[in-house]
Parts: sequence; structure tokens; C-alpha cells
Amino acid sequence: MKFFLDTANVKEIERINRLGLVDGITTNPSIIAKEGRGFKEVIQEICGMVKGPVSAEVVGLSVGEMLEEAHAIAEWADNVVIKLPMTENGLEACNRLSQEGIKTNVTLVFSAAQGLMAAKAGAAYISPFVGRLDDIGADGLQLVRDLKTILINYSYKTEIITASVRTLSHLAEAALAGADIATIPGSALPSMWKHPLTDIGIEKFLKDWESVPKL
Ligand code: E4P
Repeated sequence: MKFFLDTANVKEIERINRLGLVDGITTNPSIIAKEGRGFKEVIQEICGMVKGPVSAEVVGLSVGEMLEEAHAIAEWADNVVIKLPMTENGLEACNRLSQEGIKTNVTLVFSAAQGLMAAKAGAAYISPFVGRLDDIGADGLQLVRDLKTILINYSYKTEIITASVRTLSHLAEAALAGADIATIPGSALPSMWKHPLTDIGIEKFLKDWESVPKL
């Protein structure tokens, strides 16, 4: 399973990259806004830090605006991926860009039908938002399972990015469902590699080690 970081914070990326856990990055306008830096500057810096795909989202809502932004962003780096909203215009832009060989990530996917349409329109990635679905009482992970089945049924090459990941169980269940990728907030991932029993175990080993003769 590939891990993407859902962040534009270079310190978070550096820390987790050192562990070999970063296969790519996803951003969105809210994530970019948090950094207080220019969009192009931060995306280019991140593209130089990771080998894998870095998603940068358009903000225009018309097809023309999306394509204009996408063409400009696509020039910023070889590993940049254009993130498009799951709308009628987003699907048209996705279709046009995929025909030009520009990779897209269709975001804000909340139903299996939306994901299927994005795959059919040529999306390289689709991003179902599991946390936001759970927030409204729906089952976000069931959407990931359904999308996996659909993509296998029709042999689509589109990869599933499990997005809006909030918990350890989102990550584990997404892996069990066969999601290609999970994108995890850079601030949340460190808590996911920790377990209280690991810490207690280390403490006990070190305590017991004190009684071993040091010869
Ligand atoms: C995915 O690409 C999105 O940036 C992200 O996962 C949104 O997550 P949130 O619901 O925690 O904002």
C-alpha cells in the first residue's frame, strides 16, 4: 500500500520521508492556505522533496478555468498531478486532461457512482473522503470497498486514494479493502506508529537489562 501525506508542511514531509513512508503528497486549497506561502512556491518545493505524485488542486469552477489552471500547474514539475473536483465540469476537464496525458486526481468523491464516472473519464486517481462520510453517519470505508470492487470488475487502472483519513482503523481498513493508497495528515501519522504497549515493553526491557552483568 502506498502512503501519501495530506499536507503542504515541509517539516512534516521531511520527518516522515526520513522513515521511507512517503510515496506521494496530496494538498487542497485549505491545506495550502494553512502554510501562508505561495501556491506555486510550496508545490514546487514539495515536488523536489518526494519522487512520487504531488496533487495540486484547481479552484476554478468552469471547464475553461480548470484547464487554464491545470496547464499552468502541470508546468511546475514532472511529478505534479492535477486535482479536480467531482463535478460535471470537473469530469469534462478530467477527460480532456487525460487525453493530453496529464494525470488527474478527482477529489471530493462521496459515492460509488461518482468514483465510477471519474474512472471512466480517465482519472489516474480518485479520492473517496472516508472521514467526512463518517461525520454524517455514513460508512466511508464501505465506499472504498465498493470502489475497489468496481475498478476490479472493469479493469480500470485508476487508483483509489483513501482520503480524509482520521484514525488508525481508517488506515487498517483501507488496507484490508485493497485501497491502492491512503493519504494521511502529516500531523496524524506519527500518532499511528505509536502504541502504549510498545512503550511499556521498551521500558520493561531496559529495566530488566539493568540486572544483566555488563562483561
Ligand atoms: C484529500 O486529498 C484531502 O485533501 C483530504 O484527505 C481531506 O481531508 P479532511 O476531511 O480531513 O479535510
